Amino acid sequence: MPSRTIEREQSMRNKMLAAASIVVLLALPFVANAQDKTIQAIERYREMLADDNPAELYELRGAELWRKPRGSQQVSLEQCDLGLGAGIVKGAYVRTPRYFVDAGKVMDIESRIAWCMVTLQGFTAGEIAKRPFGSETYKSDMEALVTYVVSQSKGMKIDVSTAQPQEQHAYDMGKQIFALRSGSYDFACATCHGDRGKRIRLQELPYLSDPKDAGRAYIGWPAYRVSQGEMRTMQWRINDCFRQQRFPEPQYLSDSVNALIMFLAVNANGTVYNGPAIKR
Ligand code: HEC
Repeated sequence: MPSRTIEREQSMRNKMLAAASIVVLLALPFVANAQDKTIQAIERYREMLADDNPAELYELRGAELWRKPRGSQQVSLEQCDLGLGAGIVKGAYVRTPRYFVDAGKVMDIESRIAWCMVTLQGFTAGEIAKRPFGSETYKSDMEALVTYVVSQSKGMKIDVSTAQPQEQHAYDMGKQIFALRSGSYDFACATCHGDRGKRIRLQELPYLSDPKDAGRAYIGWPAYRVSQGEMRTMQWRINDCFRQQRFPEPQYLSDSVNALIMFLAVNANGTVYNGPAIKR
């Protein structure tokens, strides 16, 4: 990434961290008596953040990567079929996860991009899975590619189908995994996300089986996370929640994560997607 872009991202991030500390100060007096005020303050902070989202920089880098000949085949991703036909990116995100006949699988957007990288560009699945998520010192190409692709569905409604039996099956599997209690704490996703109004510290936990909450949570990803200085995808979000649940980390792009994303997406159907989000 050119250093100018990194500098711009850093300056945006510094501004946001400053805004965050103001909000914390605003929020503190209310914590003891009125948590609703705190939530309002956090909402205001989210609005302030939304004006200046470094996700745009990932979107630009993703668009460049999309068009660049790469991999052992030295071709671009421009002929990748994201479900609406080869080369069509616009609107593809809000129609995923979906069943892809050529792959014989239900795939979310990230899995499908990875599939195109393997089948068109000649990357190996192992190479892609090695470092899918970025860190302070490493910028992930996948996170940029996903950001670019989802940005091309801005303003469109989530419209995920379960018409194919494989899609219905993925939805049912996701629903079951959501309710499955296991691991050292005997937690399920539903333990934290299966009721209205749950909270860990100051973070509201969305009730993910409810269409309204699921819609709001679903369109919140991918997101630029100010606290991590990173763009994060839905695959990352679910992986991290498996960690919070004290489950072993799932394999990258595993069928169970795709099934959970299918479950969430169908619950979120009809919600308008407004592009990559920004989070604390
Ligand atoms: C131990 C509690 C816990 C468990 C179990 C858990 N999560 Fe979460 N989840 C959280 C917390 C905390 C957040 C972050 C909330 C925030 O930052 O606003 C979160 C956020 C999310 C979000 C994003 C919500 C948003 O509005 O941005 C999704 C989606 C999600 N979890 C899905 C899952 C799934 C699927 C599972 C099961 C694999 C799961 N979670 C298990 C605690 C949990």
